[in-house]
Amino acid sequence: MRIGGIDVESPLCLAPLAGITTLPVREFFSAHGASLTHTEMISCAGLIRDNAKTFDMLATSENEAPLVVQLFANDSGVLVSGGEVVRERCARFSAFGINMACPMPKITRNGSGAALLKKPEIAAEMVRGLKSLGLPVWVKIRRLEDDSDTLRFTAMLIDSGADNVCIHGRTCAQRYEGIADRHILSLAAKEFPGYVSASGDVKAVSDIQEYIAMGCCAVMIARGAFVNPFMFEEYGGQFRTRDEKLEELVKFAYNARTISGEHKALVLMKRFAGGILRFERGAAELRRLAMTARSLDEILNYLHFTAD
Ligand SMILES: Cc1cc2nc3c(=O)[nH]c(=O)nc-3n(C[C@H](O)[C@H](O)[C@H](O)COP(=O)(O)O)c2cc1C
Repeated sequence: MRIGGIDVESPLCLAPLAGITTLPVREFFSAHGASLTHTEMISCAGLIRDNAKTFDMLATSENEAPLVVQLFANDSGVLVSGGEVVRERCARFSAFGINMACPMPKITRNGSGAALLKKPEIAAEMVRGLKSLGLPVWVKIRRLEDDSDTLRFTAMLIDSGADNVCIHGRTCAQRYEGIADRHILSLAAKEFPGYVSASGDVKAVSDIQEYIAMGCCAVMIARGAFVNPFMFEEYGGQFRTRDEKLEELVKFAYNARTISGEHKALVLMKRFAGGILRFERGAAELRRLAMTARSLDEILNYLHFTAD
């Protein structure tokens, strides 16, 4: 199937998650049913300034599903310059993403992220500018207080050339709390068939099914990917045994350490440990151990010992 100008195998995508959707995490979910993944949001100002840490975020590999490189900036010129750097330096990616959803003050203060929801002219110029680089453009927004404003903003993005608009059903004021509204997704999916993907409260296969039934062309799995890392596969009817799950976690740990180093690998393992054994024997014990572990080996030794 083709979504937002990209050939994909299913509508299940790994959402962009700052500090989390690094290369080893994307490789893990690509191998476990994500048909498309996102980078973390990447600062165009950082790319233009030659910031080494920002460049690290452009690392990709052939073990990944199609990738959307998500950028943020506060004007079209900076965004397009950032996009040009990505085109030069990023080995493999399928589309540009634009973050118009981040509600955190350190991002909105200078006019980036969700601040753009209040600046439709600049937002439109950004889409047109990035689109001129010749790749699909995916935009991520949030629900506005008023449904008709959300629909108007979405229409404006599509008219400007956006290939996909992901709507997170929480308003900026909600940040990441409370319930994500689904009604706006059903309205937008009906009004813009083939363009709207959904984000918000995807914690189980039934949530994915609900968004698809509404007509959303793709579903972004965010925090739910760590509530149940095997949700993507379970949507396709594939269920793993407890030992297989542990084996996959061990593989992830080694891969993350090789790519990102001990510290980042340990931080990511703490995230995975919460859900990897969901409803299986030893889940609580693994979670507890991971939370207090000071090294990756501490967790790995435990995992080798605990396998059946
Ligand atoms: C820790 C964290 C980091 C996030 N980083 C990004 C990001 O870089 N870009 C983005 O568009 N959304 C980001 N989001 C939003 C998620 O992609 C998603 O829209 C949101 O978590 C709602 O989905 P959920 O309720 O299923 O988690 C982030 C969310 C969290 C919790």
